[in-house]
Amino acid sequence: MKTDEASVANALLQPTLPRAHSYSLRSRLRIRTSMRTRYKAAISFDLRQISQGMTTYSQYKEQWVCGTLFLVGLLAAAAAASDTTSGGEDYYSSTCPQATVTVRYMVNSFVKQNRNLAGGFQRLHFHDCFVRGCDASVLLSSTVNATEMDSIANKGSLRGFEEINMIKTVLESLCPATVSCADILALAARDATVRGGGPSWPVALGRKDGFLSLQEEADALPGPYMTYDQLVACFAAVGLSEQDMVVLSGAHTLGRAQCRTVLSRLYNYNGVSNMTDPFLDARLARQLKRKCPPDVRPGAFLPMDPTKNIFDHLYFCAVLARRGLLGSDAQLLTSPVGLELVTKYCQPDSSFFSDFAAAMVKMGNINWATQGEIRRNCSVINENVAAIHMPLPSR
Ligand code: HEM
Repeated sequence: MKTDEASVANALLQPTLPRAHSYSLRSRLRIRTSMRTRYKAAISFDLRQISQGMTTYSQYKEQWVCGTLFLVGLLAAAAAASDTTSGGEDYYSSTCPQATVTVRYMVNSFVKQNRNLAGGFQRLHFHDCFVRGCDASVLLSSTVNATEMDSIANKGSLRGFEEINMIKTVLESLCPATVSCADILALAARDATVRGGGPSWPVALGRKDGFLSLQEEADALPGPYMTYDQLVACFAAVGLSEQDMVVLSGAHTLGRAQCRTVLSRLYNYNGVSNMTDPFLDARLARQLKRKCPPDVRPGAFLPMDPTKNIFDHLYFCAVLARRGLLGSDAQLLTSPVGLELVTKYCQPDSSFFSDFAAAMVKMGNINWATQGEIRRNCSVINENVAAIHMPLPSR
């Protein structure tokens, strides 16, 4: 074991993890059971204590539109343009020297156990940054109002919450109230990409965690049924370019999509019953229909590209061959600029990796929040953590 890994592993064994939440016995048992199965070999620390740093997520409502992102994004675009980043990757070097290595070690462990999870970490950071900037608003769970988690783009779709909360719990034990959840998300996205075989990039650190998370703002995230121009507009709203949109779509080289996401492409294209998207390769359409019949059970998944666990250029080759999974992937061919970039990135020696890394740096700088807090539990703002720990009034 390398020295840095050894020091993190030692820290993981410390018995001082904070009490963060109270859980029903049933949900704790469920979490412990799933963790035992998934992480037993990788991380040998006290599951009972770690499970206190995790939460269960409440029920969701559904809706999917893009509109308000533009308004929300005006502020974000201004902040991205002014590049008000706070610090470099050594931001925590004096306050929490184990921060970056802890995230890397734990992300590597999670992805080693479940290779498919790399995409989950990447997408969490994307959905965080596009709504209110990179402030971990995506991690806030519903208390009174519906939060971003409740939006159609995120409901039952985003994953990695438990793992991010576990990383946070460990970091709280090492350096309390120091490392923001937004920074953990940014580091995890980069480390998961590298673990998947993709490029690395410097992650500037020092983000603060926000106080607000609203479902309707996440309903405005880019959606799979958007046209090319709508996708460009959604990215422009947060200060990202057309090229950023195309190259960042290359993240679809990792991970999975739910069958329900592509059902209308297969059976109800443009609202026409029994119509299949003519831009979808006919052989792939037949394969997808076998895996996803019209009455497919919830929880059935499809790979985003032929090499779903490996970060490579083959996503772009698939798109070029009209074998991109999502409608938004197919849209990339509908504009001259998109077509040119997809053709370029399909080449094995193209600038895909370096362009992707540069675009991820830009995305990670959206609306750099200087106002905010360091959440003690990524799922709730500190005020609520305090409320949870308030002793009951004595009679
Ligand atoms: C261009 C606009 C985009 C649209 C419309 C879009 C839409 C989607 C949709 C609908 C899914 C499948 C979700 C599901 O069925 O549960 C998905 C998956 C995914 N997206 Fe995107 N996305 C876009 C851009 C991005 C960007 C910029 C990134 C990251 C930088 C990203 C990373 C991912 C990853 C990694 C997955 C797989 C997630 C997993 O395995 O859990 N996407 N995307």
